[in-house]
Amino acid sequence: PRHSFAQRAQKQKVWSPQYRVQPQASFKVAILGAAGGIGQPLSLLIKMSPLVSTLYLYDIAAHVKGVAADLSHCNTPSQVLGFTGTSQLANSLKRVDVVVITAGVTAKPGMTRADLFSINAIIVKTLVEAVADNCPGALIHMISNPVNSTVPIAAEVMKQKGVYDPKKLFGITTLDVVLVNTFVAQKKNLKVVDVDVPVVGGHDGITILPLLSKTRPSVSFTDEEVLELTVRIQNAGLEVVEAKAGAGSATLSMAYAEARFLESSLRALDGDESVYECSFVQSDVTDLPFFASRVKLGKKGVEAVISSELQGLTEFEQKALLALKPELKASIEKGVTFVQKQA
Ligand code: NAI
Repeated sequence: PRHSFAQRAQKQKVWSPQYRVQPQASFKVAILGAAGGIGQPLSLLIKMSPLVSTLYLYDIAAHVKGVAADLSHCNTPSQVLGFTGTSQLANSLKRVDVVVITAGVTAKPGMTRADLFSINAIIVKTLVEAVADNCPGALIHMISNPVNSTVPIAAEVMKQKGVYDPKKLFGITTLDVVLVNTFVAQKKNLKVVDVDVPVVGGHDGITILPLLSKTRPSVSFTDEEVLELTVRIQNAGLEVVEAKAGAGSATLSMAYAEARFLESSLRALDGDESVYECSFVQSDVTDLPFFASRVKLGKKGVEAVISSELQGLTEFEQKALLALKPELKASIEKGVTFVQKQA
């Protein structure tokens, strides 16, 4: 039932006081691309998690060792180790429960989406091959863009290695959820912790579809507000790129978003039975093989993909859903073809 999502969302607050009294630091997490703009603040947030016992930081950039040394001086329980160079990749993945992939390049001015794809596709493929060889049972959290293609790439690589488990592969769309919750709270003068809006589709431009009609607590929006909020969420990345004036893209909000998704995943692995997050996963809620929607997380990864929120959409949402599908389909196919061509 719909109302229970909001109640559950309440229970899921990251590092909630109830949860802090029973820390069970037992999970091992690896971050690939840990020296980057997202990787560094994300590593710090994870170092603060009471559920993590070991944090492995890997990057091709050698200064990841310094990032690990720096973090290891924080007096929180987890152990932090740095790994650099392809020869150390395998060791950074041994016995880990969750692998976060945030390695790659970001879109720079003058760079097309195709350029971004061609660089990051190779990086992601190589890293997922190592995951398949060293920790095939780990959850994979894919941050590297374009997520709409890198998730299908990861699936194909895992299939080729004979270790694909669709319940364990997640495209991270949490930033879109974080953004819409923030913007709706601002617009409607609500307490930000109370707001819960599902975001479906994919993670790029018009494929990002916030379902504002499903906002909890229930609020009404004018058509203009729906359009304005939807477009703002779809272009929020650009807002940050422009404001940073060449010094980078969204890194801190992304690190926060993944820290939330990771904490949710670990709580679910730990046995919490009421953990829900939106994520881009293998799915049959539409005719596309991958789709972002709310999922129930459990001890083995995705426990259920929730389709009920795609029912009873407004006309605007129905049209937006129809419009996003061809683009999302093409991005998925591009990822699949990339791996199959190289086989
Ligand atoms: P960045 O350039 O600051 O950091 C990337 C890191 O990856 C660097 O430290 C680099 O040395 C490392 N790297 C590159 N190739 C590697 C390899 N083969 N193995 C290991 N490490 C490697 O970029 P930033 O800002 O941290 O973004 C990372 C990725 O996240 C980009 O693809 C970006 O588009 C994506 N992103 C995704 C978001 C989402 O919502 N899913 C939001 C924001 C960014």
